[in-house]
Amino acid sequence: MPLCNHKNMSGNAKLLHENLWESDPELMDLIRKEKKRQVHGLEMIASENFTSLSVLQCLGSCLHNKYSEGLPGQRYYGGNEFIDEIELLAQKRALEAYRLNPEEWGCNVQPYSGSPANFAVYTGLIEPHGRIMGLDLPDGGHLTHGFMTATKKISATSIFFESMPYKVDPVTGLIDYDKLEESAKNFKPKIIIAGISCYSRCLDYKRFRQIADANGAFLFADMAHISGLVAAGVIPSPFEYADVVSTTTHKSLRGPRAGVIFFRKGVRSVKPNGDKVMYDLEAKINQAVFPGIQGGPHNHAIAGIATCMLQARTPEFKDYQTQIIRNAQALCKGLLERGYSISTGGTDVHLVLVDLRPAGITGARAEYVLEEISIACNKNTVPGDKSALNPSGIRLGTPALTTRGLVESDMTHVVDFIDRGLKLSKEITAVSGPKLVDFKRVLHEDPTLNAKVQALKEEVQTYSAKFPMPGYEEF
Ligand SMILES: Cc1ncc(COP(=O)(O)O)c(C=O)c1O
Repeated sequence: MPLCNHKNMSGNAKLLHENLWESDPELMDLIRKEKKRQVHGLEMIASENFTSLSVLQCLGSCLHNKYSEGLPGQRYYGGNEFIDEIELLAQKRALEAYRLNPEEWGCNVQPYSGSPANFAVYTGLIEPHGRIMGLDLPDGGHLTHGFMTATKKISATSIFFESMPYKVDPVTGLIDYDKLEESAKNFKPKIIIAGISCYSRCLDYKRFRQIADANGAFLFADMAHISGLVAAGVIPSPFEYADVVSTTTHKSLRGPRAGVIFFRKGVRSVKPNGDKVMYDLEAKINQAVFPGIQGGPHNHAIAGIATCMLQARTPEFKDYQTQIIRNAQALCKGLLERGYSISTGGTDVHLVLVDLRPAGITGARAEYVLEEISIACNKNTVPGDKSALNPSGIRLGTPALTTRGLVESDMTHVVDFIDRGLKLSKEITAVSGPKLVDFKRVLHEDPTLNAKVQALKEEVQTYSAKFPMPGYEEF
């Protein structure tokens, strides 16, 4: 609620107290359009979600105003009495959400998002040009796991550290742990990263740990995509095996757009003579986040983390996460029944990677036509793809749809919409020929095909709008 509601405000008072819809109708109009797009579409981008009203209220709160460089109790600015309490609460709840003993684990809730969190992990743990190994981006890893191409170091994590990727088996689509073991023996990484952006199976953390141990490397789990599922205990947790775990908080966890780093504390190992070797990660990680990489923490986001971690401990949250997986499996089953090919043959998590090569459709066309009918997803490389620039698959995720209350029976409709969209893309290609520009032109300009696209879009929009959306009514 605004504090002031004077109709006759002027000057600075007007700047300060007017509602956005009065002070900036042009921007408000765009925000309303985006809200409408979200409500009327099927959101299937695997990394997206619709956060709760409570989290949005944190993000729009007075906490945004405060500078608080440093950690609770050790700030560079005054006035942090309550900010300290909020950050400590976020830390405590983050540990509780993952059932961690505070004697064994600590966490830093200040990372602005997943990418700076990961950069802070490398900065804290190893020297510049230290060696890291992560799943290759085209194989389902993330940019920040050291991505580079043959001609260019793309991610800063490959510019400032030396990276060597591991891969999935091109036939099964599963991580080739034997090859990882062999490469690690040669490359001698200081950090092995267990984390995915597009991989539909649970990770074998035990095997990762063995390979890390054999090379004296840290095991770093980036659970950004799956952190909601891990908190709910519906898939294996990396905490049993990892030294450090990072996460974003806005994907399956359904919190604010932010990041968290968890680090081990206490005894790391015991020498043959009985001497204890202690972990020394806490100061290294904390200093890498601030002052190493970041400045003032985003206190509004940290409050959002606190409240989403509270939600993550509820039975309702566990039901939600269970339903995410059920929906992904129902989606997978439906697509298989319609003859589509699924990478790895199925899913254990929140996402499905559809291999469109047998269907004769490119990922780019599929993504484009689905977007035109109000289904949001992204094109993605599939195992064995020759070119990362022209991927042959699409990645579909269920966290956002599940938030809106869709269940397995609704997936039948979703599959039907996707199937009809993809069939339309084949019809359009038959007219347009192979070039994507021609495909887009024909989709919009061919009256018969465009009418079909518009009719399907209307069906999808009417269907989507039936499901509730958390957050503010209008924006
Ligand atoms: C596994 C993984 N790590 C890190 C990130 C980076 O997160 P952000 O986009 O918040 O920087 C992502 C984002 O997609 C991710 O999938």
